[in-house]
Amino acid sequence: MVEAIWTVRKENGNTEVHLIDQRLLPSREIVVECRSHGEMADAIREMVVRGAPAIGISAAFGVALGAQELAGVRDPEEFTKRMETVERTLAATRPTAVNLFWALSRMRPLWETIAPRTPEERTTTLFREAQAIKDDDIARNRKIGSFGQALLPQSANVLTHCNAGALATGGYGTALGVIRGAVEAGKSVKVFADETRPYLQGARLTAYELAADKIPVTLITDSMAAMVMAQGKVNAVIVGADRIAANGDTANKIGTYGLAVLAREHGIPFYVAAPFSTIDPETPTGRTIPIEERSPREVTHSGETRMAPEGISVFNPAFDVTPAKYITAIITEKGVFSPEELSRHLGRPGQ
Ligand code: MRU
Repeated sequence: MVEAIWTVRKENGNTEVHLIDQRLLPSREIVVECRSHGEMADAIREMVVRGAPAIGISAAFGVALGAQELAGVRDPEEFTKRMETVERTLAATRPTAVNLFWALSRMRPLWETIAPRTPEERTTTLFREAQAIKDDDIARNRKIGSFGQALLPQSANVLTHCNAGALATGGYGTALGVIRGAVEAGKSVKVFADETRPYLQGARLTAYELAADKIPVTLITDSMAAMVMAQGKVNAVIVGADRIAANGDTANKIGTYGLAVLAREHGIPFYVAAPFSTIDPETPTGRTIPIEERSPREVTHSGETRMAPEGISVFNPAFDVTPAKYITAIITEKGVFSPEELSRHLGRPGQ
């Protein structure tokens, strides 16, 4: 299975964080080596690494890189001050995936507590924690896969959007984790992958990942989903999430909302697969989820080729919000919840 993020210990004793450059897949498998928190922040912002859980894991490693850069700083107060800047830099990269902020707030009490220790101890402790976040994410995904696969029929035809696979997580995937879980349980699974305009995570990454695992996958453009559903070719839609509000409203890759409405129209269950690190109890409904807007160039160009007139006005939101009422169930590592059950579980019913 492909891997998005891993560490490499160098001869000088330093640790580097290596990322497969997801901007170039599937045509080129190039590794980006991050030696500083600044390089990691750039990698997240520029989408070398992407996908909510993978962004969180990368940010945690970014914190560890930041501490490693402070090897010459012995004064705990100075260390804490400089780590606050590291955290701010990483937090400013992408606004929607809550896993980023979840991971940063898991790292913070640790670097605050260990500030008086030696530079070596600080760095080792923070890299260990970032690795634990990654390992824990893989374990959560396997549970999501196991709970989720039970919802699928013996012969499953699944439509998915964007990439919620091994590349978007510590490994195994959320939506693709459910698909992998079903394959491992001996079910016959065929996948339709939406290409996912404009960034093509479905065409470039999901198709690549599933083909590498020899899971049958058929690529369609986003606008073909309605016809594929109308023709009875899909019996489940499964997507990942970037942020799930307390009432179950879910932000995910642009185009997800439309798919959910289509699934409802055609009587097809619509599942969101995500770990609890993607659930944001502090955001009551989808209305207040911050939605990232990205460069117009992603819409006007295909690679280096201009596809639209010079100077054209472009709207390019990277995510949309699917209202909870369209979501059949949210598949988590703690089990399968309806949006209402999830709200009750969080102790904050939707408003
Ligand atoms: O802009 P991206 O590629 O980071 O968006 C990714 C998605 O929308 C995924 O579906 C989501 O993060 C879930 S990944 C398990």
